[in-house]
Amino acid sequence: MALRLGDTAPDFKATTTEGEINFYEYLGDSWGILFSHPADYTPVCTTELGRTALLKEEFAKRNVPIIADENKTVANLYDMIHPNASATATVRSLFVIGPDKLVKLMITYPASTGRNFHEVLRVIDSLQLTAKHSLATPANWQPGEDLIVVPAVSTEDAIKKFPKGVKVIKPYLRYTPQPDAQ
Ligand code: BEZ
Repeated sequence: MALRLGDTAPDFKATTTEGEINFYEYLGDSWGILFSHPADYTPVCTTELGRTALLKEEFAKRNVPIIADENKTVANLYDMIHPNASATATVRSLFVIGPDKLVKLMITYPASTGRNFHEVLRVIDSLQLTAKHSLATPANWQPGEDLIVVPAVSTEDAIKKFPKGVKVIKPYLRYTPQPDAQ
């Protein structure tokens, strides 16, 4: 059955630029991103690899390692080949895996649309704010903007937990400034 959000991410062994790895061991307490390119470099893939390399420091800041998938082991395990789109080439799926080894994000674009890696970084920031502070991000949120207190935290507890203040718009919609913003 196809993977869904919150499922345990399949473990695997792979040959990478970092040598032979076991995915779970390699991840350790880090966050991971998996995405796949067809082996023969296509024009869109080339731009994606270039963009990812340029953002290497941004991924490192968020404690996220990136690995390659040379023999489609990961592509097959994570269901990135969609036969109705192409029998051989992977679609542009991307997965974020948390330190708890659960699937946190799945995005699938068609092969002709290059992924937006700034959006991927933005979602990782959002996921990490939720994991660390029980905060969610509103539509179009950008780093530094106010965050939403998750419904599981009462307004009374939120006032104690977030010393920068809690703005109550509705009983279910409470904003607070980003705790770790400068
Ligand atoms: C590619 O560069 O991967 C690509 C371009 C056009 C259509 C499909 C894929």
